[in-house]
Amino acid sequence: MLDLNVAARRDAAEPVIASPAIAGSASPDSSRAFARVPAELPLPHLYARVSRHITPAEWPLVAREVEAIERLKRERNAVVLGHNYQAPEIFNTVADIVGDSLALAREAVTVDADVIVMAGVHFMAETAKLLNPAKTVLIPDTRAGCSLAESITAQDIRLLRKHYPGVPVVTYVNTSAEVKAESDYCCTSGNAVKVVRHVAKEWGVKRILMLPDEYLAQNVQKDVPELELIAWKGHCEVHERFTPQDIRDLREAHPGVVVLAHPECPPDVVAEADYAGSTAGMADYVRDEKPARVVLITECSMADNVAVNHPDIEFVRPCNLCPHMRRITLPAIRRALETMTTQVEIDPAVAGRARLAVERMLAIR
Ligand code: 13P
Ligand code: SF4
Repeated sequence: MLDLNVAARRDAAEPVIASPAIAGSASPDSSRAFARVPAELPLPHLYARVSRHITPAEWPLVAREVEAIERLKRERNAVVLGHNYQAPEIFNTVADIVGDSLALAREAVTVDADVIVMAGVHFMAETAKLLNPAKTVLIPDTRAGCSLAESITAQDIRLLRKHYPGVPVVTYVNTSAEVKAESDYCCTSGNAVKVVRHVAKEWGVKRILMLPDEYLAQNVQKDVPELELIAWKGHCEVHERFTPQDIRDLREAHPGVVVLAHPECPPDVVAEADYAGSTAGMADYVRDEKPARVVLITECSMADNVAVNHPDIEFVRPCNLCPHMRRITLPAIRRALETMTTQVEIDPAVAGRARLAVERMLAIR
């Protein structure tokens, strides 16, 4: 059986989206789905949330993994942090806290557990470790990388600093700890505008190096015309695939569709959208504005996860999957907790400076 204390911890996590189903306290939305679930299935309240993606025949095997993970979480005093792009069978079942990369970083500091399992990519696990040096942080698959994190090295930043003396460096959290250590501040797509404005004021400058996501820097630049953001050529391999024509085609095929885009998309794609924001920003938009028909121009598991709580909204679903996020599976999470591997370790010479850049970001409200 599931540990209801885990659910209580999840409910206590204020700023992040919490799945009510794990506590068995199904919301009106999920109880609607619940009505379709054959009663003999195990964990029917969880199956209700994933029934669009997992057949009744597959579910008993998946439920066995979920139960094993819940047991291991109790034994290890562990929590699972899940990014919004995680597959529905992780996001809706074993993840205790879910959200965008900013929320996961904030929550990593407050979790009351000995072990954090990051159901997300490596840089997210590193950020959790930076903020919790005394806790064990596990990444279920070390191959879960990120094309943005791969696009820049600490040496690149040192060279840029020589080229642009006195210009502060703001790096996206989608970077390695070594890169963060060379940075003045971190940012996420959820707070980038706020961070660059804060840095410009604090340093009394008009130029800022904003690295490594070229498109994020260009999209943020539109909101801060008074500043000059110097970008790098890093791109997200998922978001760079969207084109303005894709959006126009979607609007023609699905009249009235509201288009939400992640700011890692190229600026000409964002210009075609009705709203641009982080993964949490897009989820909040759907919750607050309740568009009749919507498309999320981002990794496609996100729509699966947001749709669970909005059965009356039609989600148009083009599908670009992040291959790195897909490395994280229920069996991989179970193995991580069974074997307590792979533990994220950060060179202490790097960790202190990297932590400072993340903490400076978190201090900006
Ligand atoms: P968010 O910070 O919006 O969750 O984005 C993280 C990410 O990797 C998007 O591709
Ligand atoms: Fe990195 Fe893009 Fe995957 Fe996000 S979606 S983790 S930015 S590769």
